[in-house]
Amino acid sequence: MAKTKVWAHRGASGWDKQYAPENTMPAFEKAVAMGADGIELDVQLTRDGEIVICHDEKIDRTSDGTGWLKDYTLKELKQFSFSKPHPEYGKVEIPTLEEFFAMMRSNHLTVNIELKTGVIYYDGLEEKTLNLAHKMGMESRILYSSFNHYSLQKLKHIDPKAKIALLYGERFIDIPDYPKHLDAVAVNPPLAIVTEEYITKCHAHGYAVNVWVVDPRVEMKRMVDLGVDAFFTDCPDNGRKIADGDFSGII
Ligand code: G3P
Ligand code: CA
Repeated sequence: MAKTKVWAHRGASGWDKQYAPENTMPAFEKAVAMGADGIELDVQLTRDGEIVICHDEKIDRTSDGTGWLKDYTLKELKQFSFSKPHPEYGKVEIPTLEEFFAMMRSNHLTVNIELKTGVIYYDGLEEKTLNLAHKMGMESRILYSSFNHYSLQKLKHIDPKAKIALLYGERFIDIPDYPKHLDAVAVNPPLAIVTEEYITKCHAHGYAVNVWVVDPRVEMKRMVDLGVDAFFTDCPDNGRKIADGDFSGII
């Protein structure tokens, strides 16, 4: 059984102030420092067509600005600070995907790019993201996911070699057929639906299982014991210890 990988969800975003503002460079740098095996992030497009990293379609929760991200140019978004839940970080700019890739050149971590095309469909996001990944030599390290499976289908159509994971919130009825139809290499299910039977079935059909979002340490241990391929966590330092077999303090 391969060792379970630890993927930092929105970087080392954490449950509390000991971590960093989600989906920002400090959170990504912290995830690398904490020994994560990979980083998950969310991408959207600015009004002038730049790929930026942000989870919500509106910037109110994470920045000192208001409104829809899609209505701002990159230059305008860069004026805001995206450290709202962590004011101790001072001004933190919204990162572009290009800035993130530049930082990641100094390591070999996996990158899970989630295309945020579920609420707003960003025309061209798939193609722009693929082009940038190729341009910056990141392609082999990327796993693309989205709740919008049409986006993944489109991505595969543009680049048949792109690795995709079906991200979802409810259980599929037909595990072997549905991911096969989209030529996915993995499924990314929520923690709530993961059972031993489910994992066995996915693995029997050749699909990696990457589980989101696993923050309680006892659940991290359960994922390791069940042999999931990776789990997404806001606390990659805890995840690192548990994936390495340090179960101290877990009842
Ligand atoms: O990719 C796993 C997880 O990030 C999906 O949910 O809402 O955090 O993007 P969300
Ligand atoms: Ca996400």
